Order: sequence, then C-alpha cells, then structure tokens
Amino acid sequence: MTSDKNRVVIFDTTLRDGEQSPGATMTHDEKLEIASMLDEMGVDIIEAGFPIASEGDFAAVSEIARAAQSATICGLARANLKDIDRCWEAVKHAKSPRIHTFIGTSPLHRAIPNLTMDEMADRIHDTVTHARNLCDNVQWSPMDATRTEWEYLARVVEIAIKAGATTINIPDTVGYTAPNESAELIRRLIAEVPGAEDVIFATHCHNDLGMATANSLAAVEGGARQIECTINGLGERAGNTALEEVVMALKVRHDIIPFTTGIDATKLMAISRRVSAVSGFVVQPNKAIVGKNAFAHESGIHQDGMLKNAETFEIMRPEDVGLTETSLVMGKHSGRAALRSKLAELGYDVDGNQLADVFVRFKALADRKKEVFDDDLIALMQDEERSGEDRIKVGTLRVVCGTGGPAEAALTLTIDGDAVSAEATGDGPVDAAFNAVKTLVDHRARLQLYQVSAVTEGTDAQATVTVRMEEEGRIVSGQSADTDTVVASVRAYVNALNRLMVRREKAGTDAREISYKDVG
Ligand code: KIV
Ligand code: ZN
Repeated sequence: MTSDKNRVVIFDTTLRDGEQSPGATMTHDEKLEIASMLDEMGVDIIEAGFPIASEGDFAAVSEIARAAQSATICGLARANLKDIDRCWEAVKHAKSPRIHTFIGTSPLHRAIPNLTMDEMADRIHDTVTHARNLCDNVQWSPMDATRTEWEYLARVVEIAIKAGATTINIPDTVGYTAPNESAELIRRLIAEVPGAEDVIFATHCHNDLGMATANSLAAVEGGARQIECTINGLGERAGNTALEEVVMALKVRHDIIPFTTGIDATKLMAISRRVSAVSGFVVQPNKAIVGKNAFAHESGIHQDGMLKNAETFEIMRPEDVGLTETSLVMGKHSGRAALRSKLAELGYDVDGNQLADVFVRFKALADRKKEVFDDDLIALMQDEERSGEDRIKVGTLRVVCGTGGPAEAALTLTIDGDAVSAEATGDGPVDAAFNAVKTLVDHRARLQLYQVSAVTEGTDAQATVTVRMEEEGRIVSGQSADTDTVVASVRAYVNALNRLMVRREKAGTDAREISYKDVG
C-alpha cells in the first residue's frame, strides 16, 4: 500500500456484509471467483467472510487467504476470544492478513450483551489486545458508531488504539448519518482522540436513506482513508456503499475530491455482472455506473447531442468502466472458433468439453434468435456456470395455456440422475409449471420474489428470471435466462431449489445459525 496521504484504501466487503444480505448467499466456488476478481481489479482489502459463522465461511476465508495475490485478506470476528482465534486460523494463510473485530457501542446495541459501559470498555481492551497478539494488522469497529454518545465513542476508540488496533472503522450501521455529520465525526475523532494520528480511520456506510456514497466521500474529506463498500452496493436492507460509485466519483470529480484509489475501473462492469449473477440480486437499470441504462441515451435531444459530441451528456465514457459497445456477435452460421474468441473477449476462457457444451447451447439459442448479442452470450455463460453441479436438472417442459380454463404443464426433471415426470395445472403457465416441480421436489419454501427482465430488445429477446425463496429462515435465489420466459422461470426455480438442497445438507454447520448481530 502507498504512503500517499491522498490515497484512499478500498476495503471490499461484498463477501461478508454483501453476502449476509438475505438470499445473496454464494457458493464456495463463487466466493473464490469473486475474491480473485476483486484482487485483480486492485481492491486493497477483501473482507472474505465471518469465519466462526460456519465451516463453509471458514473454508472460504482460508482458501481466499491462500489464493490472494496482492490484496490483504480480512475476516470478521465478534468481541470474544473464540471468534478472534477462529478468524486468525482462517486469515493467517494470507500474505497479508487482517483481523476485524467489532462490538455494538450505541445504547441500543450495548443493551444486547447487557454490559455496563465499563464492562464493555474492558471487553474492547481485552479482545483487541488478543487480536493484536495474533496479527499485526487489526481493525476495530464500534458498531452503530453514528448513534453512540460522543464521549463514549471517543473513549472506546482511544482504548482500541492503545490496545493495538491499526485501523479504526466508524460504521453507520443503520444508514442514519448525513454527509456533514459523517465528515465532522471523523474530523473530531482524529482531532480529539489521543493516538488517532497513528491509525487509519475507515468509513462503513449503509444506504438506508440513499446517502451511503455521499457519506463515505464526506468521511474521506473529514480524514478517513479507508472506504468500506460492496460491488453493486450489495448488502442487507438498502445495502452498503457501492464500490463502483465511490471509485468513479473520486476519478471523475478529482478536481474537487482530490483522492485516488488503486482500482482498475475498466473491470467494474465485469465484476458487477458476475456479482449480480451469483447473488441473484439484479442491478436496477438506472443504477449509477453499472446499471443497464447508465450509458443509454434514448431521448431524441440526447441522441442528437451525443452524435455531435459525446461529452454533451456523458461525464465518463462507457469504456472507462469496462462497458464495450453491445455488438452483434454471431448468428447460427458462426463457428466454434469464433464463439471461443468472442467469449474470451467477454472474459470467459472456455475450451475442450466446456466449449463443446456451450457451442451446443449457443447453436440452440441462435436457432431461436436471429441476432445473438454480447449480453445474450453473457446470460448463456451465467446459466452454464450455475447449472454445473446441480442435483436437479430440467428436462422437457410443455405448457398449454390460453383463455377459458387453467394452464396445464407437463414436465420432466432429472433428480440425482433419475428421470421423473409430473403434470399439474395452475393460474397461468408459470404457476402450472412451478406446481409440477413441487410435486416432484419436496419442499416447504415460500416464493418471496419472482422477477423477469429482458436481456436485450425485441420480442425474441431472452428473459432473465430471478426467484427468491425462503424455507425455515434459509433464503435462496435462483436465476436463468431463455428466449422462452416459462422455461427460464422453471430453470430459475430449479436453480433456487438446488441451492436450497445445498443449504439443507449443510444445515448443521453452514446455515447462518450464528449471525454477526449475536454478540457472542
Ligand atoms: O454495519 C456494520 O456495523 C458492520 C460491522 C460488523 C462493521 O457491518
Ligand atoms: Zn455493515
């Protein structure tokens, strides 16, 4: 890392705070893949998980720690020795490890472990000291800092610094603060807490009032030099500060916010798409920087202006964030080599059997759809990656629907290699098809979300369907794309069921029986 006083450290918590968002659970391999993309794009610190939460979290953090090339790998731990030891066991494999320990310091949070202010202060001293004896790089967070009494906050920050914390993170846990307050809080802590000049102050904002990015940038103006954020702003409730927003704000408005990061912004689009695909959280079309419409200019006036001079309506170029022009790629006559090179251009290296498999799916798509665009290929690849190790696979599907009577569906699935079939009726084709799946796969999951969005334009466009389901507190998402919306719906539903199976199997160890909100 640099000693430049205007360099802001980017701390990405997509795999911890982001993944904690109900339904955003990622598989082990998906976490490794995202971590490697974060590392490659220049993220300084990756918060890879919460090792005590489950065997799965522990394994993911350990493996990410071993694999990381340049990023510091951080794990989360509550304020107790067992959590901290477990965290260290996972992160110690990294070239550069960090332990992040925290406790809720506001009146509401202090009431949970039922500690007096003095008892909590002692706990902070003991746990930070313990963490520092294990690791040179220790981050400490007073959770709900922005609703903690000033005197108490200043007191516990000083204790953490004296006990050896090297980074002090000031979380706005419930997204309550406003930009001027955010800047002032950091400024005052730096000015008034003894020892503050020896540590880095971090800002960690949630977006409940839509101010997370503004609050993070204001904190930097106040003296913070680490921003905690997630890709696409993923995170519980309204999410966390979006990495792409702070990075691009610092680039585009360098004239008035003169700070730099080490992020290669041309990798933003690719990682945004990947996080959206693996988390099942679709990026809203008008989302800043990475939304589908962020660079689209549809109105006549805009188009005219854009043709004359792109800067008329564009403050950054699409290629600055890695958005290549959506181009017509191929049709049904395109060959395997052309597909392979196009996929490589889109960031997918496929060869051998995988290429053969993708080629068959591409041909089937090109038969149904005259024009195959980059976004179609990305959707196809995402489906390919999702279905890899699924226990349940969709075979054939026939639906009959129309006016006058319920829709009917006939379906075959392969479950653990055995073909099974069922018929069912329902209120429309999707309902009938889902009912058919339900007769074959025993579950009590409730559908929480069913969302359809078009991948490209035209009536032959593929539809991406996202479903989110909940069974006994376990929330899973599934996604799929197809030119046939009912087929995409059933595949998305089955994708979610496959994830539910994995969660059920690991229920003893891998369900989030421990939450970061339990004080422990
Ligand atoms: O929002 C929050 O307070 C957190 C802490 C664990 C840092 O995520
Ligand atoms: Zn948080």
